[in-house]
Amino acid sequence: MTITTSERGRSPGSEAGGSPAAGDEARTRWWRRPWVGPLCLVVAVFLAMGVPRYLTFDPADSKIPPDPQYPWHYPVLVVHVLCGTVAIVTCCLQVWPALRHRHPAVHRLSGRLYVVAGVLPGGLSGLAVAYASPSGLSMQMSTMTTSVLWIGTAVAGLRMARQGRIADHRRWMVRSFALTMSIVVSRVLGVVYDHTILPPPGASADIPTLIAWGQERAGLASWPGWIVPLLIAEWWLVERAASARHRARKARRG
Ligand code: HEM
Repeated sequence: MTITTSERGRSPGSEAGGSPAAGDEARTRWWRRPWVGPLCLVVAVFLAMGVPRYLTFDPADSKIPPDPQYPWHYPVLVVHVLCGTVAIVTCCLQVWPALRHRHPAVHRLSGRLYVVAGVLPGGLSGLAVAYASPSGLSMQMSTMTTSVLWIGTAVAGLRMARQGRIADHRRWMVRSFALTMSIVVSRVLGVVYDHTILPPPGASADIPTLIAWGQERAGLASWPGWIVPLLIAEWWLVERAASARHRARKARRG
């Protein structure tokens, strides 16, 4: 997974490693990369706020009320949260350019963990918890779609890496990165809605009103939560390729 400024000038064919740009990239100090630190900070805050309640393994602590109709709901939700944590932490390691270039063995190990211990079990359990979710049909459809895309993009990225198609591997992993971060984006959107278009009902609201509000909020946060990051990733990939072609044309003319 690569999101670097120094790679913008590289043609896709030059991404097979060992290029001079890789050296430039490794030398660029972390504080010149404004996105790595903030990304890790946002992910750390998200994990600190969302995950600990599932480490007690007590269904009473769950934010999502387990459905008694499905006895597997709570255990699968816990598996999902644990695998999601592995995915989002290893994802941050994967996009850290210095780690990629100075410690390629760590990059490979954490990349395998990302797919095998994070996205695959996290996506499959995501499908199951979406099926049993009390958060409404819109949110269920959205998260089922995300689960399939999440697994598909990561498996495609892993396949490309194994075939040595490094430029394609990076493209798929940029998409996978965007989908992993969708969980954070949708949570942020939920908070924005609370303070703008969808304030929580008052304390006197009855249960059906609260459920209807919760389902509307979950659906409204879920769809743009993954579509917007994926579109940004797609734009970034197109832009980077166009910029590389432009530089190559200029170099030929020069
Ligand atoms: C991007 C692919 C993902 C999909 C499709 C997905 C799907 C889901 C679904 C369907 C639920 C149940 C929500 C409900 O019933 O209302 C859920 C809950 C949850 N997921 Fe994910 N998830 C994904 C990624 C992640 C990641 C990377 C994490 C990182 C830790 C994570 C952490 C959680 C947590 C903590 C919950 C419990 C809900 C809460 O306490 O607010 N998920 N997820």
